[in-house]
Amino acid sequence: TATLTYDFDVAWTHANPDGQYNRPVIGINGQWPIPSIVATKGDQVIVNVKNSLRNESTSLHFHGLYMNGTTHMDGPVAVTQCGILPGSSFTYNFTIDQPGTYWYHSHVRGQYPDGLRGPLIVKDPENPFKGQYDEEVVLTFSDWYHESMPKLMSGFISIANPSGAEPVPQAALVNDTQNLSVKIEPGKTYMFRMINIGAFAAQYVWFEDHTMRIVEVDGIYTEPMDAEMLYVTAAQRYSVLVTAKNDTSSNFAFVGSMDEDLFDVFPDGLNPNVTGWLVYDDTKAKPEAKLIDSFDSQFDDFTLVPYDKESIYSNVDQSITLDMKMDNLNDGANYAFFNDITYVAPKVPTLYTTLSTSANATNPLIYGYNTNPFVLSQNQVVEIILNNDDPGKHPFHLHGHAFQVIARSEEEAGAFDPNNATQIAFAATPIRRDTVLVRPNGHIVLRFQSNNPGIWLFHCHLEWHMASGLAITLIEAPLTLQSQLSGKIPQDHWDVCKAGDVPVV
Ligand code: C2O
Repeated sequence: TATLTYDFDVAWTHANPDGQYNRPVIGINGQWPIPSIVATKGDQVIVNVKNSLRNESTSLHFHGLYMNGTTHMDGPVAVTQCGILPGSSFTYNFTIDQPGTYWYHSHVRGQYPDGLRGPLIVKDPENPFKGQYDEEVVLTFSDWYHESMPKLMSGFISIANPSGAEPVPQAALVNDTQNLSVKIEPGKTYMFRMINIGAFAAQYVWFEDHTMRIVEVDGIYTEPMDAEMLYVTAAQRYSVLVTAKNDTSSNFAFVGSMDEDLFDVFPDGLNPNVTGWLVYDDTKAKPEAKLIDSFDSQFDDFTLVPYDKESIYSNVDQSITLDMKMDNLNDGANYAFFNDITYVAPKVPTLYTTLSTSANATNPLIYGYNTNPFVLSQNQVVEIILNNDDPGKHPFHLHGHAFQVIARSEEEAGAFDPNNATQIAFAATPIRRDTVLVRPNGHIVLRFQSNNPGIWLFHCHLEWHMASGLAITLIEAPLTLQSQLSGKIPQDHWDVCKAGDVPVV
């Protein structure tokens, strides 16, 4: 194993990734797209962040990493740290003990869609599929906005938008461009690591005339399954094996197509697709993508089986039911609610409250009603039942864990009913992942083991809804956490945490 050090100077730069509009973006070391973090399982990673944004605080979250023993390196502002003030520096230091495809992004409200998001890849010397592919290619998919987020966010959460209609992107990107060619050699097999780093739009993804064989989702190896089309929500990842044809007679398009169901309005002239090309012969044409008339061939991730065939966690110790809705508050703006609570970030990061309250840390009341806190005991099976009382699709993400997806309904199925025999016919070896879609007016049931003391958010990964309060805080094994982290919080945590923190949005 190695120690990898990244020095990241975070600052505004400019970019025009869709060729339509040059705009300020948040870059690293003067570059945008920002660099990838590439590690090997077992490595220690040190990321020295200097905030040179001048007008916004920042932070980095390493999406999907368990951060076992290092919850204070997880990154969400007001949860495990304060925002890194302009001019300040902060060091993330953690060891990665899990292989797979991840990403890293700002966890300051509304910030990552301005550009501060990129791949985080963890290679695995023991990858069970190692002999089955020749090369790896990372593909990021995202939506893209011409306006910057502070402006979009203040319009979104305002009296002028009482219905909560989300801003609609101007374009889709793959690897932060609309002009991506992937050089392909005949007969070789490629592992494409696909990551949706977008703010809002899920994307349907397919390769024309090539089949994808799924081998990993969100860092979890799977039994290989073939798919013609994937539905990748914001923050989800898939690794797929694609075997190239044996001849170079033509090149092929691949497509990311934003899910228009998410858009309350569909603006004239919006092209929801981004096309890239598998280039077998660069003297030949790059074909236009063919139009398709349905998305019916999309793969259902609920049918995946984890490669380790881990059994369902069967005896639930603690069950949390979350009823989710969107509604207006007295200010006339639209917010999102779990059990009638809209998440509001606390003034003191939740972790610091845990570490400074001794035995009281097990009492959810001390964390403040608006953090929507749930205290978990250690080494329990925890179940989350989420009922979506909203006609929209939402991708939910849990920090610090992968969860088993126990149940996931079709749309309009209503709340989970533990007495309904078909709803409780659970798989013996359910898939695990860290981000899952709940369908409109449907439900999901998730389970995980509270084997990772820490402060972990569970939230909608649509950046609009994170900002409008669709989050809860899990305080997992707080007393164990106190002893684990006693004396271990580095000084820069306190140094960046000063009065006069620059508010974003
Ligand atoms: Cu991708 Cu709360 O994070």
